Amino acid sequence: MKELKLALLGFGNAGQAFGRMLLDHEEEIIKTYDTKVLVTAIATGSRGNLVCADGIDLQRALADLDVKQGGSGRFTDTGALSSLTTMEIAEQADYDVLVEMTPLNIATGQPAISHIEGAFKRGKHAITANKGPIAWAYSRLRDMAKEKGVQFYYETTVMDGTPVFNLTEHTLKMAKVTEVSGILNSTTNFILEELEAGADYEDIMERGRAMGFIEADPAMDIEGYDAAAKITALLNVLMDAGITPDQVKRKGIEDITVEDIRRAADRGKVIKLLCRGVRREDGSVEASVQPTEIDRSDMLASVNSTTSVVSITTNLMKKVSVVEHEPEIEQTAYGVFGDVLRVLEGR
Ligand SMILES: NC(=O)c1ccc[n+]([C@@H]2O[C@H](COP(=O)([O-])OP(=O)(O)OC[C@H]3O[C@@H](n4cnc5c(N)ncnc54)[C@H](OP(=O)(O)O)[C@@H]3O)[C@@H](O)[C@H]2O)c1
Repeated sequence: MKELKLALLGFGNAGQAFGRMLLDHEEEIIKTYDTKVLVTAIATGSRGNLVCADGIDLQRALADLDVKQGGSGRFTDTGALSSLTTMEIAEQADYDVLVEMTPLNIATGQPAISHIEGAFKRGKHAITANKGPIAWAYSRLRDMAKEKGVQFYYETTVMDGTPVFNLTEHTLKMAKVTEVSGILNSTTNFILEELEAGADYEDIMERGRAMGFIEADPAMDIEGYDAAAKITALLNVLMDAGITPDQVKRKGIEDITVEDIRRAADRGKVIKLLCRGVRREDGSVEASVQPTEIDRSDMLASVNSTTSVVSITTNLMKKVSVVEHEPEIEQTAYGVFGDVLRVLEGR
C-alpha cells in the first residue's frame, strides 16, 4: 500500500473538521486509492506543533484540543511535539502535501504565501483553504507549481467545498469566462435581511455574534474587505485577472440605512452586497464590491444568511450559477478533503 503524507498548517475549526473527515473515511480512501493518508505534521499558533514522519495520532491530537470533552487545549507530549516553527515545518518536515489552513491575512496574504512557496521549492504539492495566497499571489504560485510539476488546489477558498473552481475547470472546457458575480459574504447578507425585517442594528449585531455569523470585529465583513478578497480570488483563477484585493472598487454596507432598504423595497428591490468582475475591452478585468439594488424576482434576491451564490458567464455557456445552501464547517472540510482526493488521483 502507498502512503500520502500531509502537513497541516493550522488546526482550528477547519483543520479539525478536516481531520475528523479524514479519520471517518480512512478505510474508504485505502479501498479506493490503495493509499494510506498520514498526517505527519500539524502546526498551530499557540497549541504546540507536532511532527512525526510515521504519522501523528490524529485521534489523540483532536482529543487534546477538544476542551468541551476534557482536552487541555494544547497537544500533549506523545513524542511528536516539535520545536520547529510553521515555516520550518513547510521547509523541513517530511510530507507530500502541504495543507494551508492558517488565519487569513487580508492585507498581504502572508505568511501563507511563503508557506506554499516553501512547499513548492521542495517539489511538494499544496492545498489552501486560506484565500490570502489566491487573492494576493495566485499567478505566481500557479506558475511556480507548474514549473515544479506539483499540484496546487484551492477549492475551499471561495464557498467552501462547493465546486466553483472544479466546475469551471472540468465542465466548462474552452468556455472563456467574461463575467463573474456573486453574493459571498454572510455577515452583510444577514445584517441587510434583518434590517429589512425591522430589527434594530445593535440587536442584529448581538444576535449575529451569538449565532456565530458576526465576528467580534465585523469591519472586515461590513466594509467589504472579505468580499473583495473573495471576488479577487475568483477573478484571478477564472479570468486570469492578475489583480490584488486593493484593486477592487470597494464599498461596504456601513452607510446603508433602513430608509434605503425600505425605498428599495417599495420599488420591488432588495439591497445585497454584490461582488462582480467583468472583462474590459482592453482585456483587463474590472472588479467591484458594492451594495446593489436587485430585483425581487432575480434569483440573487433569494440568497439569504449564510447561503451564497456565484454566477459565471462564459462565451459558450452563457450564465451558470452555483448556490451553496447554509454551509457548516463540514462543507469547509470537504473542500480540503476533495482537494486531497484530487492529489491522490493525479499521482
Ligand atoms: N471556517 C470556515 O468556514 C472557512 C471557510 C473557508 C475558508 N476558511 C479559511 O480556512 C483557514 C482556517 O480557518 P479556521 O476557521 O479553521 O480558522 P481558526 O479556527 O481560527 O483556526 C486557525 C488555525 O491556525 C492556527 N494558527 C494561527 N497562526 C498560526 C501560525 N502562524 N502557524 C500555524 N498555525 C497558526 C491557529 O492556532 P491557534 O488556535 O493556536 O491560534 C488555528 O489552529 C482560514 O484562512 C480561513 O479563512 C475557513
